[in-house]
Amino acid sequence: MTESTYQRQIFPLLTRLDAERAHRFALQSLHIAERLPGGIAAMARDVPAPDPKLAVETLGLHFSNPLGVAAGLDKDAEAMDALFALGFGSVEIGTVTPRPQPGNPRPRVWRIPGDEAVINAMGFPSSGVTAVKKRLFGRRFPGVVGVNLGKNKETSLENAARDYTRVLDDLWPMANYVVINVSSPNTPGLRELQGRNALGQLVGEVQRLNRWKADVFSHPPHPVLVKIAPDLDDWALDEVLQGAIDGGASGFIISNTTIDRSVLSEPHAELPGGVSGRPLRSKTNELTLKTRARLGQDNQMPIIGVGGISTADHVIERMIAGASLVQIYTGFVYGGPGTPARILRDLSAFCDSEGISSISEIVGAAAPVRA
Ligand SMILES: Cc1cc2nc3c(=O)[nH]c(=O)nc-3n(C[C@H](O)[C@H](O)[C@H](O)COP(=O)(O)O)c2cc1C
Repeated sequence: MTESTYQRQIFPLLTRLDAERAHRFALQSLHIAERLPGGIAAMARDVPAPDPKLAVETLGLHFSNPLGVAAGLDKDAEAMDALFALGFGSVEIGTVTPRPQPGNPRPRVWRIPGDEAVINAMGFPSSGVTAVKKRLFGRRFPGVVGVNLGKNKETSLENAARDYTRVLDDLWPMANYVVINVSSPNTPGLRELQGRNALGQLVGEVQRLNRWKADVFSHPPHPVLVKIAPDLDDWALDEVLQGAIDGGASGFIISNTTIDRSVLSEPHAELPGGVSGRPLRSKTNELTLKTRARLGQDNQMPIIGVGGISTADHVIERMIAGASLVQIYTGFVYGGPGTPARILRDLSAFCDSEGISSISEIVGAAAPVRA
């Protein structure tokens, strides 16, 4: 399907459905398509062949390209093969909680088309780790899989580490990297885990289990990243970076949705939850620049950039700001299934026109010296 077909014909139909229903419909369509004979090949038809210039080696992993699916789009690992077939180099599933939970009452997702934004207050609906594990066993398509860990709503913050490690314990063999999500605005109190001591302990517990699993499976430990909120002031950013480093984190995902409504053309104060999409772009770009400056230029702690990305120019901008990889969610909702193929084609053209032999050469090119 061409992008204009999606934007002219399919998207207007989907917008007649409630945003969450439209998302379920789209995910189920991908799920069915990946199971039809020839379905994967049909979805991959317009995807350019892997371009070695776009391959990224980071976090001890090989990514066929820098573009990944952000957490929340395929929470329960229902359409991973289809997402890889559409061209993504990585898919982050989750947030997965140990026990199944329904999340917040509906409606809880709203499109804001004028801003190409989404507001969501989902609160981690999850089919739980056991169901997700079964689906992950069935995956066929190659590509890097991230597992985004969370806690059940009723689990206290004191016991949060037990939930994060329970999910990791079950999904470790199927994961390539692991994300500690402490930045969703929709689970009460969760963001308190971004404090230095709390985060240091949480990352430390996850890493202890990670290393133990690695021994058991005779495999290197998985990279463990911390996903942070975009609403941190400088002090809070230093706390979260230091806490993650104390606990032994491997990198950061910047960022989750924002609670700052001033980024929208209308604040929509009547709707609860976090904002994603175009209005988040400059905020997450600045946070990426600032974080890269604090971490140093040597790229020992890679950043995955996410927030408001929908074109190759946005990918380039984010990588220049210091992200080694990027992810998208809302840009895919508005742009449709042809989005990754278009971005990859444009990234290859950019490398060719600039004489760049590896897209990773641009990472951090704009970052200021250490702040
Ligand atoms: C409906 C919705 C659900 C989301 N669920 C999760 C989630 O479960 N875990 C998580 O870490 N991030 C979640 N996110 C945040 C995205 O992963 C991403 O960080 C954010 O949307 C910014 O990227 P974007 O502007 O490309 O959408 C969700 C976002 C949306 C719109």
